[in-house]
Amino acid sequence: MKERVVLAYSGGLDTSVAIGWIAEQTGAEVIAVAADVGQGGEDLEQVRQRALDCGAVESVVLDAKDEFADEYCLPALRAHGLYMDQYPLVSALSRPLIVKHMVEAAREFGASILAHGCTGKGNDQVRFEVGITNLAPDMRCIAPVRDYAMTRDKAIEFAAAHDLPIDVTKKSPYSIDQNVWGRAIETGFLEDIWNAPIEDLYSYTEDPAQPRPADELIITFASGRPTHIDGEPVTMLEAIEQMNARAGAQGVGRLDIVEDRLVGIKSREVYEAPGALALMKARDELQNITMERDLARFFRSVSQRWSELVYDGMWFSPLKQALDQFILVANEPVSGDIRMKLHAGTAVVTGRRSEESLYDFGLATYDTGDTFDQSQAAGFIELYGLPSTLAHAREQRVGRE
Ligand code: ARG
Repeated sequence: MKERVVLAYSGGLDTSVAIGWIAEQTGAEVIAVAADVGQGGEDLEQVRQRALDCGAVESVVLDAKDEFADEYCLPALRAHGLYMDQYPLVSALSRPLIVKHMVEAAREFGASILAHGCTGKGNDQVRFEVGITNLAPDMRCIAPVRDYAMTRDKAIEFAAAHDLPIDVTKKSPYSIDQNVWGRAIETGFLEDIWNAPIEDLYSYTEDPAQPRPADELIITFASGRPTHIDGEPVTMLEAIEQMNARAGAQGVGRLDIVEDRLVGIKSREVYEAPGALALMKARDELQNITMERDLARFFRSVSQRWSELVYDGMWFSPLKQALDQFILVANEPVSGDIRMKLHAGTAVVTGRRSEESLYDFGLATYDTGDTFDQSQAAGFIELYGLPSTLAHAREQRVGRE
């Protein structure tokens, strides 16, 4: 029997050519697996058929939108998962889901090799391959672009020579990866980091500079999960989709950053993630009123570490999984309503209310009704500053200060 390879298939030029390329290089049969993680665009049935037309022996397409929203985006929302304090991990979140389904397909169709279309310069190859070896140590991984020198020019040549059903002229000058959590745009003229992004790059967001009336809404959360928008119940997927539409229409959620890749390269990335960033801002503000101070301070360092692990392809690592448990427990009281105003590229929280609130009006007020005993503050400050005061007294005594 021929060896079988499961290929993560997107329907685009590179992975379409990879089907025949892998078959030629290895003599194996190729099974294409594509997952709908809310990237939009083409009909999935078309994608499925194209893989077969390009020579795949089996072609599987999965509607993984709810799974992606519930099991990948929601943990990221609860974790406040932002790499370098900004990037909401769009691509990093989808890879482990794809890996999981590739491994399942490999078991189902008797494949022992998994393949992806990533280059040797990015993070995604790491996410695929670490994920695969974590979930299926018995399987092997290949990357035709990296391992079998499948360059862009050769891919176009191959597609023409084999009469593959792909329009190579439609190929965008950018490298784009998108899903319901957001959209990543790189390469092309953006590689000159002084060049400003142009309006053409964006598709999830309108131009924030366009004049339009503001949009105000109320998001309800239960333990860090959005459950209602303006009082209407929503699934996690619906929450993201509705916020993509409403925040996107106001130009919210554009980013332009130079980012530290795991492989050591600094790279320029443009992102748009209107729904993700608006939801994260809302949940974070609800956390501010419902989470105890020390837990919240510690949470921020956990959040940063969690984001780095996920960015670095460690989705299935024990540390990441243990931090997930911490994040879940910390989110328990993060329930209530956030009122948010979306306008001109900004998402601003304008109100918050919660049964779990730790905000005590009586303690906070400067008006009548103050219940805070200010007389206790003086003693508190004296003891609080005592260790440092003693140290400075010593420095002065020995003449170092
Ligand atoms: N830099 C981002 C990341 O590493 C996005 C990668 C997007 N991939 C792509 N093929 N454009 O998560």
